[in-house]
Amino acid sequence: MKMNDEAFVSDTLKRAAGERAAALVTDGMKLGLGSGSTAAHFVAALGERVREGLQVVGVPTSEATREQAEREGIPLTTLDETPELDLTIDGADEIDEDLRLIKGGGGAHLREKIVASASRRMIVIADGSKRVQTLGRFPLPIEVVPFGLRATEIAITKLVESLGLEGELRLRKAADGSTYVTDGGHYILDAHLGRIDKPNVLASTLNNIPGVVEHGLFIGLATGAILATGEGLVELGQ
Ligand code: 5RP
Repeated sequence: MKMNDEAFVSDTLKRAAGERAAALVTDGMKLGLGSGSTAAHFVAALGERVREGLQVVGVPTSEATREQAEREGIPLTTLDETPELDLTIDGADEIDEDLRLIKGGGGAHLREKIVASASRRMIVIADGSKRVQTLGRFPLPIEVVPFGLRATEIAITKLVESLGLEGELRLRKAADGSTYVTDGGHYILDAHLGRIDKPNVLASTLNNIPGVVEHGLFIGLATGAILATGEGLVELGQ
């Protein structure tokens, strides 16, 4: 299969997952709107339903999603106005059998985690290739404060080694080669670990390092998943 064909198939699967998720939304729901290419399909399908009369409000998890939702005519709110949400729909970079996730490939995981945590339910939408036995092949994004970057990097490296993990940290770059800066004004260190056997332990200990703002391990947040495969949709949880 050629690269373009693969990208087309992947995008078709992402759209199928996004459209299915949009069909689950009911009148009056307060929604978290995820970020990334799969979530963008959800926002587009949700926009169609809103234009047909569906009444919802949404909290976007990134500036990119905010701009798309505004174009789609989806009424927006903030977590300050609406601190408790019914449902968040978001993509993921990896999802395991316990619905544990790696997120943040698009750099939005800080807001995504805050929004998911404020939601009663979080449904992950993805193409089936994101489903894994063990998390970690996808580099784990760790959002850090620019101040003291080198010291934070050393602290993360020591923690990772103390947990018996191997790999390297790479400072994320933007397309133009400059240091990537998140919506929150922070940097991202991508931890290339290969496999993370105990994601719960890594998740809780990373949060203890000063300078770490948030990491992309989502544990106990996803309540369901819609995974689109060539054979159809696989739905897990709710
Ligand atoms: C952004 C994310 C995205 O949801 C994740 O990277 C998946 O993106 P895509 O749907 O484009 O594959 O976590 O921070």
